[in-house]
Formats: sequence, structure tokens, C-alpha cells
Amino acid sequence: MKSLTKISALCLALAATSAFAAPMLYNMVDGSPLDFEWAMEEGRDTEAVRVFLDTGENIYNETPEFLPVGEELFAGMCSGCHGHYGEGKIGPGLNDDYWSYMGNETDEGFFSSIYGGLTGQMGPMWGSLTLDEMLLVMAWTRHLYTGDPKDATWLTPEKRAGFTSFTPAKASIPAEEDEEEGEAASD
Ligand code: HEC
Repeated sequence: MKSLTKISALCLALAATSAFAAPMLYNMVDGSPLDFEWAMEEGRDTEAVRVFLDTGENIYNETPEFLPVGEELFAGMCSGCHGHYGEGKIGPGLNDDYWSYMGNETDEGFFSSIYGGLTGQMGPMWGSLTLDEMLLVMAWTRHLYTGDPKDATWLTPEKRAGFTSFTPAKASIPAEEDEEEGEAASD
């Protein structure tokens, strides 16, 4: 459901995100500035967090050595609602280029959705993931993207040139691991 609140939060998010300037990060639903006082102590001061807060760039995007950690975090924290490959379940799909909150096209918006939460079951993650883990899980979610690589605007031009759309063969955690849990419950 589209609401005026979503649209005004979107305008704020877009106004706040010019490439490679210190991002202004706002709650995607009510437009209030994100409060980093709430962030966990651990994982606040990594290189990736510093670069992201300075420039809005997530250096974990398409960085092979960090994708498996992001994949594990996604399997533990997101796939139950968003599907093993981000294809959508009770939460919307995260692997195509349709966003209910258009600000999620940018990593600033995407980060704000995770940190501050959205509506309903999409609660804020500031108490469950460190800032660094948010960037790691974001990188894996972006890796799951199945749309046209040229629209992967969250990647730097160099990374975008080498990006190919996700296929299940690129995953290291098999989908059956999620399905087994479901089957066990229905036995
Ligand atoms: C308990 C279920 C649940 C969990 C766990 C969950 N989500 Fe969500 N998510 C939702 C729901 C429901 C929505 C739709 C919220 C809305 O429209 O306001 C949503 C929306 C989103 C959106 C916005 C999508 C759009 O189209 O704009 C993003 C991005 C997102 N989630 C990312 C994540 C990530 C990343 C994780 C793991 C760290 C996660 N979610 C964990 C239920 C969940």
C-alpha cells in the first residue's frame, strides 16, 4: 500500500542522497534523522562503516571475500520473511528493481530501511545487527539482484561493469536448508 508518508519519506531520502557526499540518513517511514546513539557498540568503527557514513558507498558490494558472511546473516535474519533468494515471502521481493519505498534504490535508503525499520513486521534492526553487519547483509541482498545489471546503480561503475544477475548457482547456502525447516514444522 502506498501512502503519503512513504512518498514524503522518499522525497527526503532522495533530497539527501547526492553521490559521494556524506549521506544524510533518515527513517524511511517518518523522515526523522537516524539516531546513531542506538547503534550497537560493536562494529561501529570498521573501515566499511566509516566509508559508508562519509560517502554513502558500501565497499562490501561485490567484494567476494565478504559476500559469504552477508549470505549467512541474510539466511539467519531476512530469508524467513523475504525468501531464500530474496524472491519475497511474507515480506516483499528484494531481488528485482521494484521497490515499495523507492529510496531503497540507493544504499542510503536501503541502510535506513534496515536500521530504522519500515512498517508492520519490518522492525528496526539497530538492536539486532551491528552497523558493519548491516552493510554486510546489504551487500549480499544486492548480490541477489536478478534485474538488468545496468540498473544496479548502487554499484560503482567499475563493479557494475563486471556484475551479472544472480542465479541460485551463485549461492553457497542451499535453499533446501530453509525448506527443511518448513517441512519439519508440517510433519
Ligand atoms: C519478520 C519478517 C521480516 C524480517 C525478519 C525482515 N523483513 Fe524486511 N520487510 C518485511 C515486511 C513485512 C516488509 C514490508 C514493510 C512495508 O512495506 O512497510 C519489509 C520490507 C523490507 C524492505 C523494503 C522493500 C521495498 O520494496 O521497498 C527492505 C529493503 C527489507 N525489508 C530488507 C530486509 C532485510 C535486509 C532483512 C534482514 C536483515 C529484513 N528485511 C528482515 C518483513 C521482514
